[in-house]
Amino acid sequence: MNTPKGLFITFEGGDGCGKTTQLNLVEKYLSEKGQNIIKTREPGSIGLGQKLREVLLHYDGDVASTAEAFLFLADRAQHIEKLVLPAIAEGKIVLCDRHTDSTIAYQGYGRGENIEQIKMLNNLATQGLKPDLTLIFDVSEEIAQTRVGAEKDRMESAGNEFHKRVRNGYLEIAKQEPSRVKVIDANLSIEEVFQQVKKYIDEII
Ligand code: TYD
Repeated sequence: MNTPKGLFITFEGGDGCGKTTQLNLVEKYLSEKGQNIIKTREPGSIGLGQKLREVLLHYDGDVASTAEAFLFLADRAQHIEKLVLPAIAEGKIVLCDRHTDSTIAYQGYGRGENIEQIKMLNNLATQGLKPDLTLIFDVSEEIAQTRVGAEKDRMESAGNEFHKRVRNGYLEIAKQEPSRVKVIDANLSIEEVFQQVKKYIDEII
């Protein structure tokens, strides 16, 4: 008997795009179908990652943008080796809240780090693993702001221009890799957004 092949599905988008709600709906949908699911996130899934998350989102001193990029990448390297690769090898479906495209969109397009270099470093951190499917939740600035709420973490406080660049960065990534990356119109109701998501999930499962 062949071992079932695991799947790696990533959920991406700007702050306040609603991707975490959709990830939870996908988890429920697939679990009800009897699939073996692992839900995880970057930064900060387990162990060392949780320490890095604390620094990345709540350290209030000055952070060099290259250092920020390396901290997200360090979290990713740990997460991939200790959690994602073993789960995929066991045939599980890994649903991951943010991954490599966040670093391209936020540190690359947002902060202005060199995008080709970020891609190379992503490749190092992931040991070459690529998501089977990436959903980008695209939402207008106005709706994103209402969803983020008043208490903002370090990244959410980076300003409107920064978040505009992040959004455009995501759309650029989708243009460059249309077979892996699908853009979801996340301005709609939770149910309407989920209908779009379900179509892509059904195609890949
Ligand atoms: P989180 O609380 O997980 O928020 P969200 O619900 O928006 O995913 O915060 C993660 C923050 O870190 C978010 O603002 C995006 C940012 N981030 C990067 O800037 N680069 C990265 O590589 C990753 C994974 C996240």
